[in-house]
Amino acid sequence: MHLHTFLSHLQHHPETIRPSDWEVNWNDAPLPFKQYILPKIALSMEIPLDLKRESSHIPTIDEIGYFLWYIYGLTKIIHTSYPIKEEQYTLRRFVPSGGALYPNELYLYLKTKDIPNGIYHYDVSHHALVLLREGNFDSFLAEALGYQCDISPCFATVFVSVFFWKNFFKYHNFSYRLQGLDSGVLLGQLLEVAKQIPYQATIYDQFLDEAINHLLGLSTNQESTYAVIPLSLTPQKTHHLSIKQEHITSHELCVSLPKIKHPYQMNSKKILPYPEVEKIHLSSIQTTTENFCDSKSICSPILHRNKCITLPPNQTSSLSFYTICQNRTSPGQDFRFGSISQPQLATLLQKTMEHDLHHLEHYFSDLKLAGYLHQVDEVPKGMYTYDVQTHSLHLIQEGNFHVHLQQCLTDAHINLFQTPICLHIIGDPIANQETLGPRSYRMQQMKTGILVQRLLLIASSLGFGGHPLLGYDAKSVDQLYQLDGTKQTSLIQIPIGPFQRYGQYEGSLHA
Ligand SMILES: Cc1cc2nc3c(=O)[nH]c(=O)nc-3n(C[C@H](O)[C@H](O)[C@H](O)COP(=O)(O)O)c2cc1C
Repeated sequence: MHLHTFLSHLQHHPETIRPSDWEVNWNDAPLPFKQYILPKIALSMEIPLDLKRESSHIPTIDEIGYFLWYIYGLTKIIHTSYPIKEEQYTLRRFVPSGGALYPNELYLYLKTKDIPNGIYHYDVSHHALVLLREGNFDSFLAEALGYQCDISPCFATVFVSVFFWKNFFKYHNFSYRLQGLDSGVLLGQLLEVAKQIPYQATIYDQFLDEAINHLLGLSTNQESTYAVIPLSLTPQKTHHLSIKQEHITSHELCVSLPKIKHPYQMNSKKILPYPEVEKIHLSSIQTTTENFCDSKSICSPILHRNKCITLPPNQTSSLSFYTICQNRTSPGQDFRFGSISQPQLATLLQKTMEHDLHHLEHYFSDLKLAGYLHQVDEVPKGMYTYDVQTHSLHLIQEGNFHVHLQQCLTDAHINLFQTPICLHIIGDPIANQETLGPRSYRMQQMKTGILVQRLLLIASSLGFGGHPLLGYDAKSVDQLYQLDGTKQTSLIQIPIGPFQRYGQYEGSLHA
């Protein structure tokens, strides 16, 4: 299948890219975490409820552990009164993930005093670090990033990878869409956690993929890095991509460092091939810094009439960051009827779209937040977009659309009659394709995921639940936003509202 057709089907007709007789072999499912068969450095489970830190010293290994646990650690055990698959519990994290399969893995390049400098894997299941490669890799990393960043002052660099089989085994080719979104959600959580401490974190989504994978000991067609995030205590200098440097290739870097290949377990006895995902992935990787380019965020505005509602100032939450993370959940069937006030809506929309990190200022400018507002105090029911510049709602069409939206759901386990608002993130899924090729798709999915996690955390800070979902007919929803004839589409749907947990029992997983 041609790459463009594949991406178009992935976005608009996902049912066509998965064989109709695809059966999920749950008996040979992979673990949701990778376990290296190597010595582990245990991290403290005495996780503080407040992450704020005054010290200007390089973080200790325990502090690195707290940071990792808040981002991707096992935080909850959920028991249900009805069995999910054959088990009666699932392990959850502060981030949502399509099908709770968590296709990402975290790696770190660490330069702390407590343990040797080098490349580590975060073993989620044991809350431990595993040393994969010892040494100083500042210059290797700086070159693999095309000198976009000064690595030497950074005490650590995080690598977010995707292990393709972890969710391909269930979703087949549709996994490719989820992998980008899930990576973004994880990046969104990383940025929020870093802000709490505070650490300075900058996301790089352009780098020499094979060189970075070589450094971590990954096989690019099996597991590949999607984002590189250097961490520092003081603001980082980022260099503009358009400043032309001498070109560096992945090949040059790979031959300069010995290969590593460590044993690990994932439990699946048989890993099926995924030729389409592999093809699109391999065509997305950057092999020379010559491929790097500035992504121009061109925003194509959604058509709207002039009627607009200026929103009131936003609210601050008294809940701690820990409580906000712990309360975040995808309510599914547990939404209950309720309304949202205008200040609450204003908080949700503004805090999601406003960015205090300077390097993110224009990053999201080609994505829009829009929604069907159904039960918002003194706001007529209808389809709206949000304009962050004027902090106002723009009406697209007034009316009652929850029957339409309910019928658009492919799996009717969420009752949209109950949720006061149903939001969408709108954008062009292949924005910047002319300059970045197919990589633009995964970059756009990651950006969307970052916004999703911000939105979910803000919803949680207001006492609401938000349920991200892709199981809906996007073409039909796009009609409500009058997107026909534009390149824009609804990239993800997130109903938000009050909820009450029934039939499930939660336990925290920390000391
Ligand atoms: C990118 C993404 C897509 C998702 N798509 C769906 C979906 O189509 N249907 C659904 O019921 N849940 C969907 N979810 C929600 C997950 O199933 C949910 O996050 C997971 O089961 C973990 O539960 P938790 O969010 O309560 O921690 C999605 C989540 C993400 C991050």
